Amino acid sequence: MDLDQLNETACAMVAPGKGILAADESTGTIGKRFASIGLENTPDNRRDWREMLFRTEMAMNEHVSGVILYDETIRQSARDGTTLVQLIRNAGAIPGIKVDTGAKALAGAEGETVTEGLDGLRDRLADYYELGARFAKWRAVINIGQNGDDSVPSQYCINVNMHALARYAALCQEANIVPIVEPEVIMDGNHSIERCYEVTEFALKTLYRELFDQGVVLEGTVLKPNMVISGTTADDRAGIEEVADMTVQCLANCVPAAVPGIAFLSGGQSDEEATAHLNAMNASYDLPWPLTFSYGRALQAAPLKAWAGKPENVAAGQAAFNHRARMNGLASLGEWDA
Ligand code: 13P
Repeated sequence: MDLDQLNETACAMVAPGKGILAADESTGTIGKRFASIGLENTPDNRRDWREMLFRTEMAMNEHVSGVILYDETIRQSARDGTTLVQLIRNAGAIPGIKVDTGAKALAGAEGETVTEGLDGLRDRLADYYELGARFAKWRAVINIGQNGDDSVPSQYCINVNMHALARYAALCQEANIVPIVEPEVIMDGNHSIERCYEVTEFALKTLYRELFDQGVVLEGTVLKPNMVISGTTADDRAGIEEVADMTVQCLANCVPAAVPGIAFLSGGQSDEEATAHLNAMNASYDLPWPLTFSYGRALQAAPLKAWAGKPENVAAGQAAFNHRARMNGLASLGEWDA
C-alpha cells in the first residue's frame, strides 16, 4: 500500500473548483434514463452517450476531477478506437470504478438491503488497476422507515452495511485504489429533516468506527454522503440554509478532519437544488475538509435531455453539461450565484 499515492489521488479528487462525475449507472439504471428520452439501451448508445460527456472539454478539463465508471465502460472504446479511460485521462481527470454489485434484500429485515460485491473483490481490484482505475466506489443504501416506523433503519442493517464498506475500503487501499465510501441515506419518503439527521449520524458514526476497526487509513479515502435533507414528499420541506446548516453540523460531528474531502451524491435533488445546497455550505462555513460534488443525475439530467440520443444534438448536450459542471464547480468554491 502506497499511502502517499493514495493521499495524492484523494486530494486530487477534491481539488478546488472540481468534483466527480458519477457515470457508473448499471445497465439497468442507464436503461431507465434512456427510456426517458426514448432511446434504446444498447452498448453503442451507452458508449455514444458517455463518449459525448467525456469529450466535453470545458466541463472535463476545468470542473471534473474524476469519473466513476461502470464495468462495461472501463473496457469500452470511443468510435475512433481511443479507450474511454484514455479520453478521461486526456482531460486531466482520474478514472474510477464502481465495484459493488448492488443492494440486495437483507435477510430477516423487511424493507432493508445490504450491498454485495465482496466475493472476488481483491482480484477485480487488481484488474481494474491495470485498466487505469485509481479510485473506486461502493454504495450502501439506508432506507428511512415511513409514517413513524422508527425500526428502519435497524442497527443490524447499519452494522452489516458499514462493515461491508470497511472491508471494501481496506481491499481498495491494499490495491492502491482510493475507496469512495458511500453510505446513502435515501431521500425518498415523507420523513422530516430531523429524522434524516438522526439516521445520517447513526450511519456515519458506525462507518468511522468500522473503518478504524479494519485499519483503513482515512487520509486515503473520500466520503460520499447524502445531504441532511427533508424527504422528497415531506410537508414543509426545509429550505436551502437549513439543509446547509444541518448537513454541516452532522458532518462536523461525525467525520474526522483527516479525511481529505467530502463529495456529495445528489440523490434525487433537482439540478439547481443540488448546486444551491453545496454552494450554501461552502459560502457560509470554514470547514476541515473540502466539500464538493460527486453527482450523477444532477450533472447528467440536463445534457441527456438536450442530447436526446441524436447526433445532431451533441453540441447542445455538451453545452448543457458544461453549464451544470461550471455551476457545481462554482458551488464547490461557494461562488455560485442563482
Ligand atoms: P446521484 O447523484 O444521481 O444520486 O448519483 C450519485 C451516485 O453515484 C449514487 O451512487
